[in-house]
Amino acid sequence: IPGKIHYLEEVASTNTWLKENGQCGDVCLSEKQFNGRGRRGNNWVSPDNGNIYLSFCFCLTENTQHRSLLGLVTGIAIAEALKDIGLKDHGVKWPNDIYWQGKKMGGILIETSNYSDQFIIGIGLNISLTGIEADNINQGITSVNDAMVGDEFSRDELLIRIIHRLSIHLDGFASMDFQSFKHLWREWDILRGESVNFQHQGEVISGTVNDIDKHGRLSILHTSGETQFYSSADIRLDK
Ligand code: BTN
Repeated sequence: IPGKIHYLEEVASTNTWLKENGQCGDVCLSEKQFNGRGRRGNNWVSPDNGNIYLSFCFCLTENTQHRSLLGLVTGIAIAEALKDIGLKDHGVKWPNDIYWQGKKMGGILIETSNYSDQFIIGIGLNISLTGIEADNINQGITSVNDAMVGDEFSRDELLIRIIHRLSIHLDGFASMDFQSFKHLWREWDILRGESVNFQHQGEVISGTVNDIDKHGRLSILHTSGETQFYSSADIRLDK
């Protein structure tokens, strides 16, 4: 990995395109998506403004218990690539968001294809906010341009570094050791030790973030003193 890089001027969604046309190791990149998709059925506003819309087709042939860690691994690869180009103060917000100074800079959408061992890893990263500062985005957002003011960087170099970092992590994915992965995760995790709240099955949960477990679940120490694990949630920082 990687295999072929398919570069498209515009596409409905790079994830959908790759699911239908890609092979293991292929990458699909586009300048614009007219039906970009986010997690939880949201759309991902994807204008032609230099932002990154990238999908990677990953085939897992070996048996591994780490499948659920794929999104976390992808977040780490993106964070490392951003560090490579000189960005500071960024991290990953569990499970799948790239954050800089409390604002979302990018997201990850992982889908499985018809072949059960094939994963489509979709990455959306804001280089600029031009054309996406819409009212329907209900959270603080930011971009690499905003975070890098005064520092030169190349979008294409960033793209190549993301593909490179992701390839390295995916190469070792099946045989990865969870303890060393956990240490790497801690370097990028922005939630550890923070007070948070979120909705879970109709209830508001408040507590302090601990670590992740080997299924990638987030451990929360509740105000009641009890610890529980969550496999998905939209975590809000208490601030
Ligand atoms: C999120 O909701 O935070 C995830 C956003 C993922 C967006 C990317 S852009 C490239 C790929 N193609 C899509 O349609 N979605 C992902």
